[in-house]
Amino acid sequence: MRTTGEHGERPDDSPESAGATRRARCVLSRPLPGRGARATRGRAGVPDPVGSSLVSTRAAQEFRHGDVVCAVRGLTKTYPAVRGRRGVPATPEIRATDDVGLDIRRGEIFGLLGPNGAGKSTLVRQLTGLMRPDRGSVGILGHDIVRHPERASRILAYLGQESTALDELTVSLAAETTGRLRGLDARRARAERDDVLDELGLAPLAGRPLRKLSGGQRRLACLAAALVGERPLLVLDEPTTGMDPVARRAVWSAVDRRRAEHGATVLLVTHNVIEAETVLDRVAVLDRGRVIACDTPSGLKERVAGEVRVDLVWREAAPLHVPEVAALCDRVVESGRRWTLRLAPEEARTVVATVTGGAAFAALDDFTLATPSLEDVYLALGGAVRQGLVKA
Ligand SMILES: Nc1ncnc2c1ncn2[C@@H]1O[C@H](COP(=O)(O)OP(=O)(O)OP(=O)(O)O)[C@@H](O)[C@H]1O
Ligand SMILES: [Mg+2]
Repeated sequence: MRTTGEHGERPDDSPESAGATRRARCVLSRPLPGRGARATRGRAGVPDPVGSSLVSTRAAQEFRHGDVVCAVRGLTKTYPAVRGRRGVPATPEIRATDDVGLDIRRGEIFGLLGPNGAGKSTLVRQLTGLMRPDRGSVGILGHDIVRHPERASRILAYLGQESTALDELTVSLAAETTGRLRGLDARRARAERDDVLDELGLAPLAGRPLRKLSGGQRRLACLAAALVGERPLLVLDEPTTGMDPVARRAVWSAVDRRRAEHGATVLLVTHNVIEAETVLDRVAVLDRGRVIACDTPSGLKERVAGEVRVDLVWREAAPLHVPEVAALCDRVVESGRRWTLRLAPEEARTVVATVTGGAAFAALDDFTLATPSLEDVYLALGGAVRQGLVKA
């Protein structure tokens, strides 16, 4: 079995992949460090590894070294340039993660937010031992994952952004096999399989092969497999992509239950800003490989507390013949018929009065005034302008 791929990447895409079979023999059966423990908050004045200008005082105060499950320092990964060949264009070198520093504390749900290509998946693949960083360190529950990547599968469950390794198995077998690979005996693996399939509403699909399921169903089945054979750290790369609202709710409550009942720590990559705001304890915002902010969702939002978001939805096109509307042109983020503006409260009132009272009103379909979201924070932080966090 190869241990490293073209870019230092290990070929087995997830701990559950076929490549994991050989490692199964050394899966730990002893209790894992950190199980059953809950997050504790406290002691002030301990330095945070993320640049102090990026961390609010409150977050720094809550930080305790003893509570850190995953410590990342200076993590850097550059995908090498590829020379062009006949019919294949050259690609430049890409610095996908750039000196990333993070501390993820026991029992928290920690989010990674950022636009497409920000480096989120590259970062989590380095944390899970599937990709070797160019430099930097990853310590998870005291294990040096850069030096001992094979230990990662014993201490964390990973749901990759694209998981195909289980496609040939039925939902039931995928969950059971993962449990066995993680050291459960046959009876326990079957019991955990049944519990997790019930919990996620997958029992009716248990006998179906994953490749014959819809995208959202397959994603849910992969998550079910990741949850069997409890691990103290769950690393989930966009777990709810393609899921309907019922399935999404089942995922969040399953994740939350593992945190509440077993003290599991969760690292979550997500584009869903609304969910992120309700589920996450802390968020790191990634932009072009760098952590540009790290705080609680409300701590981040305080940075743009003086702003209000105004959304204007036009029936067809914006009435640019109205001078007050034309004057807004260079301040809007336009998305189809929707105009979004970030304004001081007084300005927002003026804009709403203008579009609801004057000549522009006939062209207006809908409008909303809202307090800032994480999306606004990202834009205010100077992230890729106009791109935003939400996947197109
Ligand atoms: N195997 C690879 N070879 C070369 N470049 C890569 C490779 N994988 C990713 N990249 C590049 O590295 C950067 C970061 O990619 P990554 O997949 O980590 O982003 P992401 O934040 O997960 O994006 P998304 O939200 O779309 O999943 C992007 O510019 C991407 O094009
Ligand atoms: Mg990704």
